[in-house]
Amino acid sequence: MATTAGSLDVRAQFPVLSREGLVYLDSAATAQKPVAVIEAMDDFLRHHNASVHRGVYPLAAESTDRFEGARRDAAAWLNAPARGTVFTKNATEAINLVAYAWGLDNVLAGDRILVTQMEHHSNVVSWQLLARRVGAFIDYVPVTDDGRVDLDAYDALLERGPKVVGVVHVSNVLGTINPVAEMVARARAAGAVTVVDGAQAVPQIPVDVGAIDADFYVWTAHKLYGPTGLGVLHGRPELLEAMSPFVGGGHMISRVGDQESTYAEIPAKFEAGTSPIVEAVGMGAAVAWIDALGIENVRAHELDLTAYALDRLEGLPGLKLHGPREPEARGAVISFEVDYAHPHDVAEIAGRRGVCLRAGHHCAQPLMERLGVGATTRASFAAHNDRSDVDALVEALGAVREVFA
Ligand SMILES: Cc1ncc(COP(=O)(O)O)c(C=O)c1O
Repeated sequence: MATTAGSLDVRAQFPVLSREGLVYLDSAATAQKPVAVIEAMDDFLRHHNASVHRGVYPLAAESTDRFEGARRDAAAWLNAPARGTVFTKNATEAINLVAYAWGLDNVLAGDRILVTQMEHHSNVVSWQLLARRVGAFIDYVPVTDDGRVDLDAYDALLERGPKVVGVVHVSNVLGTINPVAEMVARARAAGAVTVVDGAQAVPQIPVDVGAIDADFYVWTAHKLYGPTGLGVLHGRPELLEAMSPFVGGGHMISRVGDQESTYAEIPAKFEAGTSPIVEAVGMGAAVAWIDALGIENVRAHELDLTAYALDRLEGLPGLKLHGPREPEARGAVISFEVDYAHPHDVAEIAGRRGVCLRAGHHCAQPLMERLGVGATTRASFAAHNDRSDVDALVEALGAVREVFA
């Protein structure tokens, strides 16, 4: 595979991108899947499929090895302990797991929960559900005019002694890369448990979960070129051990009596029922694929595209960009507004030309409120894109302008 810093050549590895005229700029919603991932899942289903953990026959042992191998590989890639690496349905479920299984036992009436104004709804609504049940209150760290977390306001809000702090690593709207290691350290000094949402970070930038040192770090396989149906929660093992289970049923128990049960060791304690086996195998293949490519090369490539796109978009009439202007301060996600058309019209007309953009509130309504808009248009770049895709975006915006201006 061709890799030089700042340029990748992997488009041909994505079968769906062979569709005539397709310019896929919505990887922040879900990434397309390379052949390596599709074939790993196909091979597993054809040759190795069996339920994991329970069977003693060789096929089941093989299946279990592959499933647990994917957990070990993902954990090692991100420098997190495999024992504290829990598989969930997606990032959303991983945050809900923390909110319920940790939150219900630790957040009390009158307690405060602190999140930033740029969180995805998964790191907002999960806490609202908890807050409503226990009588806690949610504070929001404001976002500055240039799209960053206001760290002075953060320090002031930490003085209120929140029980838990939730922060997104890379914003799915602004692209902002937040200084999560620093924010986690400050939150810990203030006595809070920390939850970092890495859904956009893990596919885009080198992530060292151990160095960030959050109590919980979550991400989702489908944005990392892997399949839907698998999220990952890296939890501090001591905390996971102390927590109550989230969902009850098979596999998560040690012994079941008529009235009471004891639970399995972590991570099984949080993985009730039959696991997403083929999804884990696909995620493992995605990790291997991106690791072979080199996440630093992916970052350099996407940084180049982001810088190029910011330059080209900034010059367009009637267009307003959101988020930090410096490409180094952001991931490969660009949200914008145009004064001549609604985001849905932009995405609709661009879509007719094969350019796939996302329009809407991007599951970040508190942030939309802060930006004073109902919706934005978003373009996001991934390993498969190149500068010609940015040019296609600019041409599509020209076509939208011709219709509306
Ligand atoms: C920043 C962020 N967090 C969380 C999520 C939720 O991911 P999932 O839908 O896989 O649970 C997303 C998905 O768009 C996201 O962008």
